[in-house]
Amino acid sequence: MFYKIAQKVMFQMDPEKAHHFAIASLKATANTPLDCFYAQKFTQAPVEFMGVTFPNPVGLAAGMDKDGECIDGFHAMGFGHIEVGTVTPRPQPGNDLPRLFRLKPAKAIINRMGFNNKGVDNLVANLKAAKSGALVGVNIGKNKDTPVEQGKEDYLICMEKVYEYSAYIAVNISSPNTPGLRSLQYGDLLDDLLGSLKAKQKDLAEKHGKYVPIALKIAPDLSSEEIEKIADSLIRNQFDGAIATNTTLSRDGVSGLMNSNEAGGLSGKPLNSLSTAVIKQLADCLKGEIPIIGVGGINTASDALDKLDAGAQMVQIYSGFIYQGPKLIQDIVEAYRAR
Ligand SMILES: Cc1cc2nc3c(=O)[nH]c(=O)nc-3n(C[C@H](O)[C@H](O)[C@H](O)COP(=O)(O)O)c2cc1C
Repeated sequence: MFYKIAQKVMFQMDPEKAHHFAIASLKATANTPLDCFYAQKFTQAPVEFMGVTFPNPVGLAAGMDKDGECIDGFHAMGFGHIEVGTVTPRPQPGNDLPRLFRLKPAKAIINRMGFNNKGVDNLVANLKAAKSGALVGVNIGKNKDTPVEQGKEDYLICMEKVYEYSAYIAVNISSPNTPGLRSLQYGDLLDDLLGSLKAKQKDLAEKHGKYVPIALKIAPDLSSEEIEKIADSLIRNQFDGAIATNTTLSRDGVSGLMNSNEAGGLSGKPLNSLSTAVIKQLADCLKGEIPIIGVGGINTASDALDKLDAGAQMVQIYSGFIYQGPKLIQDIVEAYRAR
């Protein structure tokens, strides 16, 4: 009920202003009695994933809390994990405004944010300050002005800094809004990146006496052959997990709608079936050797169960959370328990 009213107000605002307003409100009210407006308590449904026990299979997808400012607030809503980031080694402003668009009739969003974030050191301070004990995945990327061929170094810098404070690390090579980034999904660049991250993980596990799993986040805009090659590389490099998918460049299901011609990645309902198809293909190629977080267009509990049926073990939500509110978390957990 409260979310429906808050949503009415926020949907009157410019989308990015509404986002900042929501983040600021959450930050101000987390760990205070005012969190009663959004906190939810429900019977949990623990899931073992990449060697970590999550309280339930529903996480917040990357990009909502890029700087890890509201970890405790999102935890109070009942998310089983919160993926913060994408974070880059150095702060960067992202693309010019406007860069975030609602496509309300399609329950969709187009964004070309471009990894706006306050940098990894600021994120680490926020990870240290979080009080709730939430399981936090940290999604890492490269700065826009780092050439793609040197991108690996940016991932290694971020990994080293966040390792100690992360439940898992997500490697984002699938945002459509950083020029050249998606080229890291292919061939030698991919193998080299995954191999280097695994070597770094081994060093850091020894140094900290703690094994933090790493997962690769992929795009939905891949051919079957490309998915097969990525799966081979994940297996060869003994990666711990995969996250499928990021936003799409496709405009299927939104043509003619206001804002549908904006450049950027499309998320929400129109992405649902494409993302589920990618999860299915990826799961077939991975043959149960590497677990998957399914994300993309989940708008109902039944959409989430479809992702699990396609081969994912956990799910994440972003756009569906904007359109449905925190209740969607509880709905999915309840449907998962009843399954
Ligand atoms: C405004 C916005 C910003 C996003 N930023 C990131 C990001 O920084 N890193 C990332 O890996 N994914 C990012 N995403 C993608 C989401 O994490 C998710 O993969 C995608 O939106 C599909 O899920 P959904 O349909 O539930 O929104 C962003 C999505 C949106 C809508």
